[in-house]
Amino acid sequence: MPSARAQLVAIGTAVPERRLTNDDLAARVATSDAWIVARTGIRERRICEPGTGLSRLAVPAAQRCLQRAGVAAQDLDGIIVATITPDMVMPATANLVQHQLGACRAWGFDLANACNGFVAALACATAWIESGRARRVLIIGGDIMSSIVDWDDRATCVLFGDGCGAVLVEAGPPDGPGVRSCQLWSDGSGGADLCVPLSGSAMPKTAEALARRDHCLKQQGRTVFAHAVRRMSEAAQSILRQEGLSAADLDLVVPHQANLRIIEPMAERLGVPMSKVVVNLERYGNTTAATIPLALADAEAEGRLRAGSRVLLVAFGGGYAWGAAYVVWGRG
Ligand code: ACO
Repeated sequence: MPSARAQLVAIGTAVPERRLTNDDLAARVATSDAWIVARTGIRERRICEPGTGLSRLAVPAAQRCLQRAGVAAQDLDGIIVATITPDMVMPATANLVQHQLGACRAWGFDLANACNGFVAALACATAWIESGRARRVLIIGGDIMSSIVDWDDRATCVLFGDGCGAVLVEAGPPDGPGVRSCQLWSDGSGGADLCVPLSGSAMPKTAEALARRDHCLKQQGRTVFAHAVRRMSEAAQSILRQEGLSAADLDLVVPHQANLRIIEPMAERLGVPMSKVVVNLERYGNTTAATIPLALADAEAEGRLRAGSRVLLVAFGGGYAWGAAYVVWGRG
């Protein structure tokens, strides 16, 4: 047993005001509300004004989280921002957040693990706390997917949205609630199936590359879909095996929100009824690293997530990268 347990004590979120409905998208590309709802379950998403940096959502999400936790920014030891759409490559968005919060004692970094970012950040915060080197780590999952979506590609632009969520992870008694287990996996052989080619050092920023929209997200949708169902199911089952739990022992499953047609077969393979699965993608679409904190916040607001709730988090995304965690919610 670790000498301190990593407890998840409060959530704060921030999403842009502007709603983009399926009908709005159908006015731009050859699609329809009926196609998008049937293939994904998504009805609308929130979209920032162009030029909005992630920190514009991350700071209010963090402030709301700290206020709900009753913790001052000066008491944070660490800040992890999970994102693939930081304000800039340098400085890290975690530094921008640290400065704007006034978190004068905190060290932070950005973590790029695509849709698995929040689970990966939780794993890092847990290790940090269990090692005794930190007592309070703020994990923020957020993405401004509208900044990398090709708005003329109907196969991808209907899927994504913008949003951000923060969760405070705090050291608590070893026999109290908190993170029981966390597992992560990578398979770089699937990297090309979901990528943004012009986003780093591998490709020069030429006019030709921009004209090809290589600065936008490219995806092999069917391949990613098949991997997502398989890997999320395997990850969830692996956590249950490790903890010696059955699906009946879970109060709530909070999966990454990409597509209802990914979530439903995963729940079926797990033997968990959909009544225990949190789904809010109809209102937000796929917000990448933000989906799990946004879903946690909705579950809490609906009274489904309470102190002592036994929760399974599971995600899969670009990389490929995937992971799962089993958590008993709240402060001990
Ligand atoms: N509107 C109407 N028609 C469309 C649209 C659209 N928005 N997008 C694609 N189509 C067409 C295609 O052109 C194709 O037409 P064709 O048969 O004439 O060639 C037809 O619909 C079927 O296309 P598919 O890509 O085979 O459709 P599919 O049933 O696989 O659904 C989807 C596509 C929704 C993208 C699916 O593959 C998917 O969800 N993939 C996973 C993607 C994902 O979630 N990625 C997010 C990041 S990873 C993660 O978060 C897990």
